[in-house]
Amino acid sequence: MGVCQADGTRAADFRYVSWEIREGAHKIPGLPCLFDEDETAETLVIFLEDAASSLKLELYYVVFADRDVIARSARITNGGKEAVRLEKMMSACLELPNGSWEAIHFHGRHAMERRLERLPLMHGTMEVGSRRGTSSHQHNPGVILCSPDATEEHGGCYGLSLIYSGSFSMEIEMDQMDSVRAVCGINPEFFEYRLEPGEAFDTPQLMMTYSGSGLGRMSANFHSIIRHNLCRGKYKFARRPVLINNWEATYFDFNEEKILSIARQASELGIEMLVLDDGWFGSRDSDNAGLGDWFVNTDKLKGGLTDLVTGINGLGMKFGIWIEPEMVNEDSRLYREHPDWALTIPGRKPCRSRNQLVLDMSRSEVRDYVFDSIAAVLKSANVEYVKWDMNRSICDVYSAVLPKERQGEVYHRYVLGIYDLMERFTSSFPNILFEGCSGGGGRFDPAILYYSPQIWGSDDTDGIERLEIQYGTSFFYPISAVGSHVSAIPNHQTGRRTPLATRGVVAMAGSFGYEMDLNLLTEDEKEAVKAQVEDYKKYYDLIHNGDYYRLTSPQGDSGFTAWQFVSGDKTRTLLNLVITHVRANAPDLWFKLRGLDPEKRYRLEENGRIYSGSALMNAGISIPMIMGDYPAVQMVLTEV
Ligand code: DGJ
Repeated sequence: MGVCQADGTRAADFRYVSWEIREGAHKIPGLPCLFDEDETAETLVIFLEDAASSLKLELYYVVFADRDVIARSARITNGGKEAVRLEKMMSACLELPNGSWEAIHFHGRHAMERRLERLPLMHGTMEVGSRRGTSSHQHNPGVILCSPDATEEHGGCYGLSLIYSGSFSMEIEMDQMDSVRAVCGINPEFFEYRLEPGEAFDTPQLMMTYSGSGLGRMSANFHSIIRHNLCRGKYKFARRPVLINNWEATYFDFNEEKILSIARQASELGIEMLVLDDGWFGSRDSDNAGLGDWFVNTDKLKGGLTDLVTGINGLGMKFGIWIEPEMVNEDSRLYREHPDWALTIPGRKPCRSRNQLVLDMSRSEVRDYVFDSIAAVLKSANVEYVKWDMNRSICDVYSAVLPKERQGEVYHRYVLGIYDLMERFTSSFPNILFEGCSGGGGRFDPAILYYSPQIWGSDDTDGIERLEIQYGTSFFYPISAVGSHVSAIPNHQTGRRTPLATRGVVAMAGSFGYEMDLNLLTEDEKEAVKAQVEDYKKYYDLIHNGDYYRLTSPQGDSGFTAWQFVSGDKTRTLLNLVITHVRANAPDLWFKLRGLDPEKRYRLEENGRIYSGSALMNAGISIPMIMGDYPAVQMVLTEV
């Protein structure tokens, strides 16, 4: 931590005072954190004090013994008589005094998120983080420290994942004694927080887990804690509807009839919900205008939302809608009325991104407007799903209402404001399924999963690119957390053509849906979509509630990527494989399955052949190379 005391000194010497063990999980005011529904967690609190300044520090260790996870956060309280300024207040510092470690982190950019990189440590400090006000496309708030020989099934790995959606920092330092220390929390750059006498500051929570048996176990620990102790609400475990989203089908160019025609076709194929994406409100005919004006554009939807939703419900489908509550276009009624509600720096040109500015969500009157105007829309029709988007990072970090000595608080107060607003929406509309989004996966972090059980994985819907994005995502996040859709070919982001079957197999490793004009498909393709939707419903339990195994890495040169789902009772497994590079005269593809019961016997549904679990896991299974571009295979084995 870093603190500037009232006298300008920058010293603090925290000494141990006492400890306490409390039943249950510590709750952090205003911040999402792990909860303890099963009442199995305990919290160790360590109390410390800096005698010279009367600053008090409480360190919270929430222990979920049955899930192998400890969550750490800290609270600092000013017990003195004058204000102090926090300059750095991290969530945790993990010390690894001996051993040899490598670091794994997940980097990327828009439409290429969470790409795994594994590096040996150097003497000095390595840092991954964000200074963009959001957790970002560029770095995910999680790192892994693993032994150099660690694989999916062997070796020691510490996984660290921060429950926070703003600028963060994860520093890994190796010192002169080869000791390693990971320091994680809110990024100290652009951060200052003034603590008046009696005031306290709470850090976000860092989830920590250790696996002595490889990366697979580490991921399973994160999947389990996130699904059970972080995700909330009606759709935490309930089956999510298969959806059709109109974004890549129409972009901004739609009207009621166009949307209904997509819905009509979708309903015939077994799709259960239509999601109306960007462009339904204000004067939103392009990304130049309209954000902030949360009322229906009746030029496009002549009968308003009510007529459209009635039509869609009449097809037996649910209806969902897109919003981007945190943003405003200068060409909007909202901006014309409240220009000071946008984050801009006085005397400087505002920094636009996608032609939009960011609303100052640290202000309660701004949040009230956003809540009231969007809630009115959600109440005006039978809305059962909301996609909450956020399409830029933040850079004009100045709030018109905070005094100059508090401007360093804007980034964090913005994040607290978002959490407050998300809490209001999710508690006021408990039957709505919320999906997070930020230009794809720009705010794909554990904190968002506290409010929405799924997040749109990436704006890259290309089946082959998605293999790597979904692979990286799976190290910390469960399959149920990843929104994933089948889109049209040539793919809009890469121009690549992949078979429909392959796009289906890849998108099924997530919360499944479509994002194309289904009317443009041939009759054969429509039949194939119908079968895919049926398959997804059939395998849903296995995919969302089963255990997930990464069998091969899309980053290797094997030419194929394989992954597997296994039911909790190990009676069924779904094997998925995509060939990313077909080779002439190639040998069969061999790989070993995981997570089965070695004593059980399994029948391959495809041809009735029977294998023992032990043979499948130790000798493996072979698949002949399939010719063509990017073919995929899905196979089910069930206990005999
Ligand atoms: C970014 C999202 O990731 C897309 O899916 C889409 O909703 C657009 N925004 C709409 O502006």
